Amino acid sequence: MERKALYETILVKKGDDAGLQDAANHLAQGEVVAFPTETVYGLGADALNPDAVKKIFEAKGRPGDNPLIVHIWNKSQVDELALEVTPLAQKLMDAFMPGPVTIIMKKKNIVPSEVTAGLDTVGIRMPKDPTAAKFLEMCGKPVAAPSANLSGSPSPTTARHVMDDMDGYIYAVVDGGSSEVGLESTVIDATGAKPVILRPGAITPGMVDKLLGSEDTNMDLKLESNETPKAPGMKYRHYAPSAEVKIVSLPSVECDELIPEGKELKELDDEAKNRLFSVVSPFILTAKEILEKNPTVRIGVFAGNEVKTVIESMGDDVLWSHINFYSYGETLDVKGASHCLFDGMRHLDLQGVNVILASGFADEGLGKAYMNRLEKAAYKSGDTPDAVSSEGESYAGHMRGHMSIDDFDSICTSSVLFVCDDNINLSSCCEMLFSNMVRKAEPFCLESDKGVGVEIYAESAGVYAAEGDHADEEMIDAVKEIYGVGMKHHVTSHVSVEKYNNNDLILTMTDAQAFEIIEAYPDLYGRVHSLSSYAASKGLVFKDDKGHVISISIPDPSGDDYDTYVHTVKALGSWIQILFPYILKDLGAELK
Ligand code: TXA
Ligand code: MG
Repeated sequence: MERKALYETILVKKGDDAGLQDAANHLAQGEVVAFPTETVYGLGADALNPDAVKKIFEAKGRPGDNPLIVHIWNKSQVDELALEVTPLAQKLMDAFMPGPVTIIMKKKNIVPSEVTAGLDTVGIRMPKDPTAAKFLEMCGKPVAAPSANLSGSPSPTTARHVMDDMDGYIYAVVDGGSSEVGLESTVIDATGAKPVILRPGAITPGMVDKLLGSEDTNMDLKLESNETPKAPGMKYRHYAPSAEVKIVSLPSVECDELIPEGKELKELDDEAKNRLFSVVSPFILTAKEILEKNPTVRIGVFAGNEVKTVIESMGDDVLWSHINFYSYGETLDVKGASHCLFDGMRHLDLQGVNVILASGFADEGLGKAYMNRLEKAAYKSGDTPDAVSSEGESYAGHMRGHMSIDDFDSICTSSVLFVCDDNINLSSCCEMLFSNMVRKAEPFCLESDKGVGVEIYAESAGVYAAEGDHADEEMIDAVKEIYGVGMKHHVTSHVSVEKYNNNDLILTMTDAQAFEIIEAYPDLYGRVHSLSSYAASKGLVFKDDKGHVISISIPDPSGDDYDTYVHTVKALGSWIQILFPYILKDLGAELK
């Protein structure tokens, strides 16, 4: 589609009512005007004027076979556009309009087919944004508008974004500040008895279920790859930045602030340090891996302040100099991340980064909409989005490189010993979680039935442990609850010279335990590490403002409540998952 720059596009400043009225008048006379909404900016034209609607497609540089949403400022306008308002549509309107939702209804003939791409339905949206409401009312007509981006760019969430894409191609851009939600509206088909969500947004399936007292709101996102989609727009390959996007999944941690206001890293308690570590490490490790493979790479990081603080504090000048950071606020805040997603992608693309590491959230609530857009950005034709997670397996994949079972002509065996004080909690949990991961990490295995491969053993012991006890009941329950792994059969054992000598790697829970062992057996130097110092040796270092390495210990939960056990198991799980590929690498060092 050919684009012709015909205009000296006017930027209507916030509060310029005369400018707003002028823009509205021109829209009513057939011009195209971009306007803000709480989701993203829209590229508006008179919905009842086919020639005006055609100009939208010219400006966007896209053929007109994608239905447009019709924007209204008053619910009474629905009757003008819709042939039928189903009871479902009425309920959705009552609950969510005005707001970030588009409701699909059967259309009246007055709505031209240029707007609906020939469908017999129309998507209706009433934005909540005050500038949008005012502007639409001034237009005095229903306004058809897609997102105001150039085809192939991310949806715009500021007037600047729109100007970047549309300057010269439309009459005016109305500035209403940055869009509150930052992701496009939830599109809900309400033509039937049950709602079908065609595009996830800030109005979540949970909110719809709650309204309808049901539990089965349909998410029909399959349509996106369908041949004959209900929402034709879904078939467009959405925007993907020129940079490759890698999703770094955030672990599920329950907490609002990873670093409470006014606190420094070194002042955090162990629980907070462990939590922070589990969130930040995947970014660091992934960035380091990428940098190792390509020393001239520029890495964009789309994450929160805490990730930035920690990476900055590492004092790794090489790593830091390769990173362009875009912070969306607090790392665990999916609202902040959604608000900034498109701005972040645009910004990092402009910086010319080669790879973008972006926070991945749980696929629920607003996270569903966020992940839907992020996965599209991460999608490069022909492959599935590449998620890097703290769940370990994809790291194991990375680190193993191209090693497969065929690379072995015999069995190598290697083993790791986890050590804590009494072997009823921490080290036994590490043993179970580690063994469980080995089971899933071919060519590594617990016991080879093929006669080739690397057999990896894990055991655990305690410096003060009794022999033959069971693990702590609460520990058993927590490990079962969180990882589904049973450890009822664990039997405690005391450390011994034989155990130390029989293992290739010895990992303790605290620095003190590691020191103690090395002091007693200096020969073991180099084979004994605390989890924290082992991580540091792999480049995962937390430092305080004086540059001193901050040690992270896993406190023993004995005597504490069940919640503490749960936190502890989660922390250990993160440590093991994050360190897993490194441990494997170290244990596989004797490979032929
Ligand atoms: O938040 C938003 O929805 C923004 C603001 C400007 O309102 N608009 C927007 O428009 O995102 P657009 O064109 O980028 O996306 C509209 C989506 C497309 O996926 C389209 O296929 C779907 O809504 N849609 C529109 N009319 C439809 C209809 N009659 N039936 C099914 N899907 C429809
Ligand atoms: Mg769009």
